[in-house]
Amino acid sequence: MKAVVYTRYGPPSVLQLTDVPTPVPRDHEVLVKVHAVSLNLSDWEGLRGKPAYARLGGLFRPRGHVLGSDIAGRVEAVGRDAVRFKAGDAVFADILSYKGGFAEYVCVPERVLAPIPDGMTLEDAACLPQAGAIALSGIEEKGQVQPGQKVLINGAGGGSGMYAIQIAKLRGAEVTGVDNAEKLESMRSLGADHVLDYRKVDFAGTGLRYDLILDLVASRSPFACRRSLTHGGRYLAVGGPVRTILQILLIGPLIGISGRKKIGVLGVRLGVHNIAHIVELCQAGKVATNIDRRFALSQVSEALQYLGEGHAKGKVVILVD
Ligand SMILES: NC(=O)c1ccc[n+]([C@@H]2O[C@H](COP(=O)([O-])OP(=O)(O)OC[C@H]3O[C@@H](n4cnc5c(N)ncnc54)[C@H](OP(=O)(O)O)[C@@H]3O)[C@@H](O)[C@H]2O)c1
Repeated sequence: MKAVVYTRYGPPSVLQLTDVPTPVPRDHEVLVKVHAVSLNLSDWEGLRGKPAYARLGGLFRPRGHVLGSDIAGRVEAVGRDAVRFKAGDAVFADILSYKGGFAEYVCVPERVLAPIPDGMTLEDAACLPQAGAIALSGIEEKGQVQPGQKVLINGAGGGSGMYAIQIAKLRGAEVTGVDNAEKLESMRSLGADHVLDYRKVDFAGTGLRYDLILDLVASRSPFACRRSLTHGGRYLAVGGPVRTILQILLIGPLIGISGRKKIGVLGVRLGVHNIAHIVELCQAGKVATNIDRRFALSQVSEALQYLGEGHAKGKVVILVD
């Protein structure tokens, strides 16, 4: 089969489309013929080995040689003890812990797969796992957004932000999206009430305060973010530089005490079994998936370059077959 392989961390040019053996499912695994795989910032981070947490899967060199984690496709074959699916079933999964999605076929433990709901395209299903889990967790589960609250989403023009803006609006919040100038219009079209270009405006320096700051990029210090929270407000960092994340983990709870602010890192329960609510919202037409661009498997490096250079508005999808 064809797969996009890399053996060292680096720029997109280290990726190579090559022939590798088609994997064979072990007892509890399912062989999936990949139809679509969506890109996440975690793919870019895993390619470059930055921030440092992206090297958990190999300190000096990547241990797995094929990236790609949000997959949708059809079951091709099942292992001896895999009983939930049969050949031809349409399935999707977040395989961030295993990876291997930038390939024609991938073997996946049966327990991480879910059937694609009726009426949902394989492309849309591939967009949901990671970004949907982050958005649900950040806005509903941990963010606990209430009607009328002011919510700021930093890095809102990307994949998770696309869903987070829409869920926050459905919950009746007043939403501010922060991202680069290219993405302001797309954030507005998703429902953001206010948009800020982070290259021109420092959201932590405006004097405005928010009940929830969902920070996908942790670009400001926890002290700066604390100033932008209302009394009782929450700040949740999702990803970003390791130094900032560690700082938030170490001092966030302490510096939040006065003003009863909650400052911490969002641990997202990844996996398609945790995104039932957003799947329902998509099926009901209440949340839309905005696919910015589609690329072929042979163009994974261009697609990652596009994402990494900051052009992607919403999701970028690789169409494999
Ligand atoms: N906590 C967890 O459990 C968990 C689980 C999975 C993933 N993650 C992390 O969650 C994050 C998810 O991001 P995603 O997939 O939504 O990424 P994405 O699609 O790349 O979106 C991130 C957005 O942030 C923008 N941005 C970059 N620097 C910024 C700044 N200084 N201020 C404001 N916006 C800025 C980017 O724009 P530019 O194009 O200008 O750079 C981009 O539009 C990743 O960091 C990933 O590692 C966390």
